[in-house]
Amino acid sequence: MTRTNEKNFPFYKKIGVPTFENLAQQGGFDTYVDLQNAYRYIQSGEIVLEIGAGYGRCIDFLIHKGHKGTIYAIEQSAELCEHLREKYKDIAVIIEGDIYQSYLPERVDSALWMWSGIIDFAPDEQAHTIKHLADLLKEKGKLFIDIPRLGAQTIAIHQDNQHITMKTDFGVMECYIPTTVEVQSYAHAAGFNRVDEINYETSTAKKRTMYILLK
Ligand SMILES: C[S@@+](CC[C@H](N)C(=O)[O-])C[C@H]1O[C@@H](n2cnc3c(N)ncnc32)[C@H](O)[C@@H]1O
Repeated sequence: MTRTNEKNFPFYKKIGVPTFENLAQQGGFDTYVDLQNAYRYIQSGEIVLEIGAGYGRCIDFLIHKGHKGTIYAIEQSAELCEHLREKYKDIAVIIEGDIYQSYLPERVDSALWMWSGIIDFAPDEQAHTIKHLADLLKEKGKLFIDIPRLGAQTIAIHQDNQHITMKTDFGVMECYIPTTVEVQSYAHAAGFNRVDEINYETSTAKKRTMYILLK
């Protein structure tokens, strides 16, 4: 059976880098407010994994920070991977693949799942992926999950507080925003010890929540 997450892949196949960058500007992610919050927990020498690297926004931020540790970036879209390999071949290890079944040559200190990456997955897929990510992290590893604040309006159609649909020229996206209780229960099942929560606004005043899952 095709996963909900896989049904959302065509959107990223077709979107193209300029439109993706435009969306980041509209959302207020181009100024890296989200990543500045996350980086308070990250040391410069850490091995970092980015889940769903898109057009390379998080890699750009890490370069801007002078990050010294190895950067792994997993991305399922072949089209986006071509762009990432071209732009960051000497800076990051680009892995073309599905996070559901991707493995790394070593365990990482921090994993970044930013800009609503998790909401492209159905609830059971979210739980499964968090468990898988826990295995990819070191003993004291951290997982960062960034989502729209529950109840805040987004550019998508809101079926209810948690189910949202985005209809675009590139395809339809079916998304699910987890509650704090759900994130805590995924974290608990995956063996994390603590979940921190940061509520913040992007530079275009979009209300967001970032969870930091700590082992
Ligand atoms: C909302 S974008 C976030 C991009 C980037 N992380 C950022 O913060 O700018 C989500 C990205 O995750 C990728 N993605 C979605 N499902 C994936 C999966 N199962 N494995 C790897 N990448 C995935 C998409 O192709 C897309 O590039």
